Amino acid sequence: MSLVITDIGELTTNDPETGRLHDAAVVVQDGRIAWIGRAADAPASDHRVSLEGAALLPGWVDTHSHIVFAGDRSDEFEARMAGQRYQAGGITVTVAATRAATADELRVSTHALRAEAARGGTTFLETKTGYGLDVQSEVRSAQVAREVADTVTFLGAHVVPPDVDHREYVDLVRGPMLQAVLPYVDSIDVFCEQGAFTVDESREILLAGREAGLALRVHGNQLGHTGGVALALELGARSVDHCNHLTDEDVAALAASGTVATFLPACDLSTREPFGPARAILDAGGTVALASNCNPGTSFTTSMQFCVATAVLQMRLTIEEAVYAATAAAARSVARDDIGIIRVGARADLQSLHAPGISHLAYRPGVPLTGRVWKDGVEIAGPRQHDVPRTAGSGSSTRETFRS
Ligand code: NIG
Repeated sequence: MSLVITDIGELTTNDPETGRLHDAAVVVQDGRIAWIGRAADAPASDHRVSLEGAALLPGWVDTHSHIVFAGDRSDEFEARMAGQRYQAGGITVTVAATRAATADELRVSTHALRAEAARGGTTFLETKTGYGLDVQSEVRSAQVAREVADTVTFLGAHVVPPDVDHREYVDLVRGPMLQAVLPYVDSIDVFCEQGAFTVDESREILLAGREAGLALRVHGNQLGHTGGVALALELGARSVDHCNHLTDEDVAALAASGTVATFLPACDLSTREPFGPARAILDAGGTVALASNCNPGTSFTTSMQFCVATAVLQMRLTIEEAVYAATAAAARSVARDDIGIIRVGARADLQSLHAPGISHLAYRPGVPLTGRVWKDGVEIAGPRQHDVPRTAGSGSSTRETFRS
């Protein structure tokens, strides 16, 4: 079955050869983009959706989240807003709640967050383990993660759980725990930070993961100049995430590397850490991604739109750079070139906006603009019928009208 999405006011393709098109149409067949061009030239298809002037762009590619958890840390958040500093130790509160939850409770809350992300336009989601921190609980988290996420990362090295010897825990993570989660995960990550794991410990754990066939990701330089970024570059990690505290040398080295620098602006706001120098990395020719870091401690949001708006309004990315960072560049950090881009042959992972163009993502901050969302050509989130502007007398509840 084919679907033509037509009357697209502004089509953001992320493809340098195509750029942004106006009055465009896209044809989807068998889950992939089959045709792109002027609406007037669109071929006949089995189904037709008119966006009536609304914008269409790739679905968000959210490559950093921790959505497998139970419990709530709003008290910690409130204390932080009153002046306390974020510390890695808060993670153990969520570990206790996650271990205490039943498998069904964990599954229900994780699926609910995945559905929330989809309603916000996220068509590809990475998520991590890291709130189990014993073999059985990490395996359970990895299994639940596998149900909802497009790629799963093992983060046994999140912190050392209470009452466990630090060195013994490092050996557990790089040994039996890694082997137990291996069937469910694609990557390995380490929280390389004061209060979590040293650079040497992080290296040991990442090398064990690489030996087991996993791709590498690193939480680096979130709370200080902790060496995580240098380690990620040394090991050729796919992504180093957070990057709040970078020297000029770090910026130059990242820009010259194949490692994607992933920034997490919602987390920076919630922890009151300085925004990382994404602008400088882009100016130096590097690759910058944006992700939600959805987790109960430092960034309890699935909203990629919020991250894009913050990157534009606070981190000085242009709207095109921010959208690219949250789609095509993020896709690079998970070694995918068939998502985050609208070109013939790419996956039909798409979102429309209740807006005529992508500038509205930052121009109208805080306003939920996601319209319709397709993953592999299948609609996974529909129009909010109560607030979609209608054509006078159209009677249609699924049209999005931006033309007079
Ligand atoms: O990416 N930094 C480490 N992990 C999470 C925080 C997790 C938590 O505090 O529960 C993050 O911010």
